[in-house]
Amino acid sequence: MEAMTKKSDPSKHVLSVDDLSDSVVSDIFARAAEFKEKGFSSSSIYSRSPGNEPVVALAFFEPSTRTKLSFDTAAQRIGAKTIGFDNPESTSSAKGEQLSDTLRVIEKYADAIVVRRKAHDTVDIIREHVTVPVISAGVGSQEHPTQGLLDVFTIQERRSLDSISHVCSYGDLINSRTMFSQVRLMLRMAKPGITFSFVADKTMQISQDFKDELEAKGATVVTTNKLGDVISDLDILHVIRPQKERWEGLELDVYSPVGDRELSKMKSDAILLHALPRTGELDPATDADPRSAIWDQVENGLYIRAALLERVLS
Ligand code: NCD
Repeated sequence: MEAMTKKSDPSKHVLSVDDLSDSVVSDIFARAAEFKEKGFSSSSIYSRSPGNEPVVALAFFEPSTRTKLSFDTAAQRIGAKTIGFDNPESTSSAKGEQLSDTLRVIEKYADAIVVRRKAHDTVDIIREHVTVPVISAGVGSQEHPTQGLLDVFTIQERRSLDSISHVCSYGDLINSRTMFSQVRLMLRMAKPGITFSFVADKTMQISQDFKDELEAKGATVVTTNKLGDVISDLDILHVIRPQKERWEGLELDVYSPVGDRELSKMKSDAILLHALPRTGELDPATDADPRSAIWDQVENGLYIRAALLERVLS
């Protein structure tokens, strides 16, 4: 009979793309591509006997559609079981329980935990208190590592990363955890000297600290409030929705949407990305353009999360 071993390895936490080395990212991409091509039955946990399947807990303190459902499906497809919640009001956190206690409870029942939460102390609390592997499903406006992974995986399905020299993020940049993960990972994986353009109103523009971080690692950074300044040179255009739930009373300007008119100015082999949900900043008519990869991103989230879960559960 297989042993019901409990995994207790905090070094397996994935709370930032920088928790994964380049070789681990390559392994995850290769495994995700294999799952995509051949299905999930080669998973190392696929044929565990009933009762011996690992358990993945989904602890979603913030709303989610794609991320939660793809983690849930991925876990089940590779042979794990899932437990969890997506309404913290139905848990003891509504009674005032501290996150550290909630997670210490969950780790008694689960072999890995997927957490989405708004507060920025979440990562430190996890690193200090939790021993089973925790995967971030997005923390506040900090990082969303699996979205970064699936974005870069989607890009490299279409083009060699060496051919990408200009990546643009457009929209509510300061509040976008998806942008921080995608850009950090692209900078590591793309060729040296890559340019990142950040197009936003000054109220939503990236911080000097983030600009310094990227430049220190060799990137060229352009900041502007006009998409027209860069659009014809882009290899990647990542459109980001106004993250109004993080505006907290601020009245920021809503920006003009990207539609076919903007696409008509872009290179023929450019790639259009959006993490979804879209709320007016990306015209659905762009879905018909072959440069749009947004539904590939949705699908690839399943394979990337399956590959990552298999890794932390093995
Ligand atoms: C993103 C998120 O939650 O940060 N959504 C997602 O995971 N697909 C982006 C967003 O909500 O705008």
